[in-house]
Parts: sequence; structure tokens; C-alpha cells
Amino acid sequence: MKTLVFAGSTRQQSFNRRLAAVAAQAARDLGADVTLLELADFELPLYNGDLEAQGTPDKVRELKAIVHAHPAWIICSPEYNASYTGLLKNTLDWLSRPIAGDADWAVGTKPFNNKVVGLLAASNGALGGVRGLGQLAPLMRQLQCWVAPKQFALGQAATAFDDKGLLRDATQQASVVGVVEQVLHTARKLNA
Ligand SMILES: Cc1cc2nc3c(=O)[nH]c(=O)nc-3n(C[C@H](O)[C@H](O)[C@H](O)COP(=O)(O)O)c2cc1C
Repeated sequence: MKTLVFAGSTRQQSFNRRLAAVAAQAARDLGADVTLLELADFELPLYNGDLEAQGTPDKVRELKAIVHAHPAWIICSPEYNASYTGLLKNTLDWLSRPIAGDADWAVGTKPFNNKVVGLLAASNGALGGVRGLGQLAPLMRQLQCWVAPKQFALGQAATAFDDKGLLRDATQQASVVGVVEQVLHTARKLNA
């Protein structure tokens, strides 16, 4: 199962990028073919309809093709003001746009349609970013994704990882694995 894992942060020491690495390894351990994507590698401009009218940026096309090729996704979403980040929204907005004059990308939701998406979050706060996930789930459903019922928000993230980047707490690790398992199980059934 081709599985895409990415974080809605490009910060060097990002907790969510660290959690994405943990989730990616969990997915590999469950037999998935994992792409651990870094949004920093794409540097998408802020969406603007005038810019789009000059031609969809090549990086948007590239990213649309990548996400479309993965039936299973895990998103690690930081929480900004009880919601998801502008980076994540901007990325999803660009990905949801049809490309004028390109029949392959005439349907905006094509990269999202029928993807099975697991949601994780990490924050140094007590709630771990769970409120942001409450906003992100309906957005992903709007985009025609199947959102896994299990989700996990890692609180006190600054002390949660050891120096190898692994989660110290076995229960938290099991929660990440639980989300990944549910995503892979469902994606495998949906694409059988
Ligand atoms: C604008 C802004 C708003 C934030 N709002 C929240 C919040 O509502 N809840 C929370 O737990 N953390 C909040 N934080 C702290 C982030 O969780 C913290 O910056 C975290 O490290 C971001 O994720 P990252 O480590 O993956 O980059 C906020 C940070 C910023 C910059």
C-alpha cells in the first residue's frame, strides 16, 4: 500500500515532522510502501487566483501527482489557534484546484478522492493539538477523503521523543500504530 506521510510544518525542530517520522516507520513495519514527504521541498506560493491564471506552478503539478499516487495518507498537523496551519491549508487549497487546459486535472478533488487519511497532531500543550484535528477532519471529508475514525494528538511533545526520535511512551506509540493500522486496513479494503 503506497502511503504518504507528511507534516503541516516545515520547522527544523518540528514536533509534527518528528511524529511523521514515527508514523512512517510504523507504516513500514506494517508492510506499507512509504513516502515521507517534506512540504519544505515544494515551497508553494500563497494561493492567489491571479497567480494561478498565469499558470499553475510546476511544484503544484508535481505535488498533485505525488499525492494522487498514494491511496493512504497520514497527516501530522500542528495546531495554530485551535485549527490547522496556514501552510497546510495553502497546500491543500493548491492541490484542490483544477488545472486549466489540462484534462488530466480537470476535477479539482481528483488527488483526494477516496484517499484514506489518518490524522495525527503534536503540540507541547496538554491537548496535543486535538482541537486542530477537529477542524481538519471535515476539511478532508469536504475534499472527498475517508478520514479514519481513530486519531491521536501527542501532548507535551517537547519531552515525548528520545534522542533517536522515538516516542518514549509505549502507549503513545501504540496510539500512533493504531491510527496507521486503521488507515492501511481501510485503504487495502477500498483498493482491493
Ligand atoms: C500562531 C500560532 C498559534 C498557536 N496556537 C496553538 C494552539 O492553539 N494550540 C497549541 O497546542 N499550540 C499552539 N501553538 C504552538 C504550536 O503547537 C507549536 O508552535 C508547535 O511547535 C507547532 O508545531 P511544529 O513543532 O510541528 O512546528 C501555536 C503556535 C503558533 C505559531
